[in-house]
Amino acid sequence: MKWIKFLMASYASLFLFSSSLMAVGVKNDPVEKKIDKLISRMTLEEKIGQMNQISSFESIETMGEFVKKGSIGSIINEIDPIKINTLQRIAVEESRLGIPLLIGRDVIHGFKTIFPIPLGQAATFDPELVKIGAHIAAVEASSVGIKWTFAPMVDIARDPRWGRIAEGCGEDPYLTSVMAIAMVEGFQGNGSNDPTCIAACPKHFVGYGAAEGGRDYNSTFLPERLLRNVYLPPFEASVKAGAYTFMTSFNDNDGVPSSGNEFILKQVLRKEWGFDGFVVSDWASVREMISHGFAADDKEAAMKAVNAGVNMEMVSMTYFNHLKELIKEGKVKQETIDDAVRNILRIKFRLGLFENPFVELNKPSVMYSETHLEAARRAATESVILLKNDNQTLPLDENIKTIAVIGPMADAPYEQMGTWVFDGDKAFTITPLNALKEKYGNKINIIFEPALAYSRDKNTDGIAKAVKASEQADAVLVFVGEESILSGEAHCLADLNLQGAQSELIEAVAKTGKPVITVVMAGRPLTITKEAALSSAVLYSFHPGTMGGPAIVDLLFGEEVPSGKTPVTFPKTVGQIPVYYAHNSSGRPANGEETLIDDIPLEAGQTSLGNRSFYLDAGSEPLYPFGYGLSYTTFEYGNIKISSSELKKNDILKLSFDLKNTGKYAGTEVAQLYIQDKVGSVTRPVKELKRFTRVTLQPGEKRTVNFELPVEELAFWNIDMKKVVEPGDFNLWVGGNSCDGKEISFKVIE
Ligand code: GLC
Repeated sequence: MKWIKFLMASYASLFLFSSSLMAVGVKNDPVEKKIDKLISRMTLEEKIGQMNQISSFESIETMGEFVKKGSIGSIINEIDPIKINTLQRIAVEESRLGIPLLIGRDVIHGFKTIFPIPLGQAATFDPELVKIGAHIAAVEASSVGIKWTFAPMVDIARDPRWGRIAEGCGEDPYLTSVMAIAMVEGFQGNGSNDPTCIAACPKHFVGYGAAEGGRDYNSTFLPERLLRNVYLPPFEASVKAGAYTFMTSFNDNDGVPSSGNEFILKQVLRKEWGFDGFVVSDWASVREMISHGFAADDKEAAMKAVNAGVNMEMVSMTYFNHLKELIKEGKVKQETIDDAVRNILRIKFRLGLFENPFVELNKPSVMYSETHLEAARRAATESVILLKNDNQTLPLDENIKTIAVIGPMADAPYEQMGTWVFDGDKAFTITPLNALKEKYGNKINIIFEPALAYSRDKNTDGIAKAVKASEQADAVLVFVGEESILSGEAHCLADLNLQGAQSELIEAVAKTGKPVITVVMAGRPLTITKEAALSSAVLYSFHPGTMGGPAIVDLLFGEEVPSGKTPVTFPKTVGQIPVYYAHNSSGRPANGEETLIDDIPLEAGQTSLGNRSFYLDAGSEPLYPFGYGLSYTTFEYGNIKISSSELKKNDILKLSFDLKNTGKYAGTEVAQLYIQDKVGSVTRPVKELKRFTRVTLQPGEKRTVNFELPVEELAFWNIDMKKVVEPGDFNLWVGGNSCDGKEISFKVIE
């Protein structure tokens, strides 16, 4: 653990030093002069070439010809360092102007060493560790010549039917913003003199996670105020963190596909936020504006995209094929092209590609180093959420004699890595079964009965053997969840119950009367209402990556204590979706007095059930709220004090509270601060997360924790579409999740 602290400290100081240099440098930045000079020498074809990204294909000769002519600015999906060096040599030595290529790849949660999926990393509520994970991914990816990742994905997602909820940081703008900054800084390191830095690419700009029905690529209908208050903040945070590139999203919002949306790409991103990197389309999203019915053909799609502010086109080649004639016809201005190329060249300079685009071939591999694997294990450990632990079922006693290990996810090395893994090798994955055998195999009898071959397996023939194994065991561990293919892009579900015969398996094992410990590995919250009720304990792991096995086993036996918190609300049933904590009140909020379906008397009167916002058959509460997670110990919050109960807009709300470990295990609590703006010029969420911190305490230890919250952070986009702090009454809560905490009131005054 000490080495992680050292890594964090040295890393933070390096970043601070270099960013101050960057700030000073901006005023006298010679790069702009170099860019001007280069642009003045470029032909129109060469400029359009910089705006063209192709996906690598077999023939290096053919690609080389394109590169030599200056027809390609970037190549995606090439990871062979020898091929990359060959292509870079052609670009630098054989093309007319020697402009290097930018090699991109989806390095979403690790390159070779796979970290938990981003939703799992968000569950750590540990941005420092997330930054280290991103840096490790950059170190491994850059070692083969990759200098650009299409991450972080910072789409707010409040619908777990959407498979890409796995790739983001959940439902909350503040948590996602904090994680976005961590990942951008982790990927981009301390700038171009760091060969291990790679360009980040916050995506998908914007609103993609609100796809109607949770169905990928589907339309979104987000009004500007909701965009600005919920979906844009993580992207703005990414710009402030210095992100080099942005990627547009597939969705059309209110009828306008993002790759043709001038409002978000120019008004917001450039004018309001001052973004000076470049914007790339998503895969063929320029051409897909034809399918949207927003462009008649490739030529119109190219015109709409480039005029809206998409600087580089990913793989659909409409720029390459049509921009020249669009310029000639006066439908696209020359300055639009020059601006796009300027942005692209700026990032290539910033990445140091003009100084050295080549990757050093003869150096020891950095893949899967002990340091990397340890960081991945730490991230996996902190990402696991303890959702239930009746009668202190967990941690397991090391002296137990026999453990039954059941279920299709106990030994699934490929599935455990999760979605968006192109380069991770399952051979390096340590599964829970492997880890259990490795650590306890010599003293505990481990009976492994998967019962099902994979998560969707409907064949129940193997359940009997699992039941038999359970009857012989002192502890029953059931590993269920999702194969990795069931989440991620285009992998949406209309039903979030456990797939296949997994639920029957848990029911059958529970019938033995043995305490069932259910461990879920999935890419999203699943509606495990029934299975959780049948289990004595539930650990939830959003696909934990290469080191998920040791992490889970150390948690099961108390070598580690769970600290993960839900980054997204868990619905009881899919019918509750969308369900999230930061919802508006409505005029008739549920108050817990509603009559649920099984309690409705016969011939009940029309108004007898409580005219409130709830479901007769599911109530109003989720299965697990946002920010929720148990520990093996307990924590007590007390002595909450605020600096003043009346604050002005330029004040800082200073809050302190005592946090005490009232149990018998050392543990880490994620203390959370929520704020409510009680009355606004528009309706406001009932709660919003504004601060969180991880606090590790020994049994009995008490510590005073401090939060500082500038009142200006209470600003929101109001009825006049202005971002302001409106004076009035506020509430705050400090607690271990979005439901707990003592309510404290304060006022903001003029
Ligand atoms: C995909 C994804 C995007 C990814 C890109 C390149 O369709 O939407 O997130 O970065 O194409 O693979």
